[in-house]
Amino acid sequence: MSAVTIRPYEPRDRPALLALFAGAAEGSPSASLWGHTPSEADIYLLPYADSAAATLLLADDGGRLVGYLAGCADPSTFPSEEERLAAAVRRYRLLLRPRAVAFFARATWDVLRARLRRQPTARDLADARWPAHLHLNVLPEHRGQGVAADLVRAWLDQLRRAGSPGCYLQTIAENPRARAFFAKMGFVEHGPATPLVPGSRWQGRPTHQVTMVQSLMDRPAGTT
Ligand SMILES: CC(C)(COP(=O)(O)OP(=O)(O)OC[C@H]1O[C@@H](n2cnc3c(N)ncnc32)[C@H](O)[C@@H]1OP(=O)(O)O)[C@@H](O)C(=O)NCCC(=O)NCCS
Repeated sequence: MSAVTIRPYEPRDRPALLALFAGAAEGSPSASLWGHTPSEADIYLLPYADSAAATLLLADDGGRLVGYLAGCADPSTFPSEEERLAAAVRRYRLLLRPRAVAFFARATWDVLRARLRRQPTARDLADARWPAHLHLNVLPEHRGQGVAADLVRAWLDQLRRAGSPGCYLQTIAENPRARAFFAKMGFVEHGPATPLVPGSRWQGRPTHQVTMVQSLMDRPAGTT
């Protein structure tokens, strides 16, 4: 247990949350896609604040946000990644930004090459056993202190109370710390393949997706 408070997002948190988003994934393979934080936040963070505010959990250290868990209990109420990406491309004119264009060109090339080789590429999990999902990031100086575990416990308790059958997450295979952390929190890796994440590179090399799942029907709330 950390001394940090876990609480739901409120509209007044928006500026601090955006600042947190810019640094909370630092050092991990998912830290940045095309190096433009506002558009990446529009796709991967702000839809949670706008469509699922009660399940956007914040780690608050005496008024300073140090981590967040963006959770979604019911994907049918949430805009798809394609819709969110298309909106961000229009809003931020990403096709006029060289780094974004380079990312999309690389992603297209990755998809074509994977198809030619009959290899899978990353995709969302759509399985009624694990309908809920999460994204989690904690500032570097607050890692290894139980903050991430507190966020995950709060989220899983919330899901159990709501009667959700299970939760999944997707992380990067080349992120051993995240894989070890989620395994410690009761998630198990799902599926035989680690498909390529189109466009993504970490330390100059392609990255791959790992899906992890946890069923919630077998344990009551408060027992994670
Ligand atoms: C992933 C993350 C949320 C985990 O939180 P954390 O506070 O760092 O997690 P913990 O330190 O409690 O647990 C990590 C486990 O991995 C282990 N670990 C630490 N560094 C590691 C490394 N480089 N390689 C493998 N395992 C590692 C730790 O030993 C620990 O296990 P233990 O408690 O049994 O010793 C946090 O590191 C983070 O925000 N990282 C950046 C963003 C990210 O990767 N998000 C997840 C993407 S889905």
